[in-house]
Amino acid sequence: MAVRPVLTWGDPRLKKQSEDVGEWTDALERLVEDMFETALAEEGVGLAAPQVGVNLNLAVIDVSAGEDPAQKLVLINPEILDTEGTQVGPEGCLSIPGIRESLERPRRVRLRNRAKDGSWHELEGEDFMARAMCHEIDHLRGRLFVEYFGPVKRQLLQRRYQKMARTS
Ligand code: NI
Repeated sequence: MAVRPVLTWGDPRLKKQSEDVGEWTDALERLVEDMFETALAEEGVGLAAPQVGVNLNLAVIDVSAGEDPAQKLVLINPEILDTEGTQVGPEGCLSIPGIRESLERPRRVRLRNRAKDGSWHELEGEDFMARAMCHEIDHLRGRLFVEYFGPVKRQLLQRRYQKMARTS
């Protein structure tokens, strides 16, 4: 396993629509292991393949932060089926280190997710998990969480982020 470099805000590869994962391969298995390791090393709960420069509909979530292997979730070609309610809470992204902002998300999401063997399953997430699922699926559509904000706030965040990136 290896920690892979994470692309950061401003990289055009983060804005691309990803492509569906095809047949599961050893290379994909290694990629997923690396993504879990990278998320853990960077103290994130999730990571999407585009963030490590791989343009695929693939993401990992581990809300236990490495504490419980049973909590490791791999999203493959996920699609949101429906959402319910709203929640407002802080959100961050490994591609925008140092920025955490409050954002409204659905409180519950139901999604369709493919397994490695090609079968499809429905998954539900609530509260923090729902937020993580929406955040990672957004990455697969080329969307970062800061893009929910209006242009003025986004520019403010961008300046703050660039200032931090220069000094770190
Ligand atoms: Ni992110």
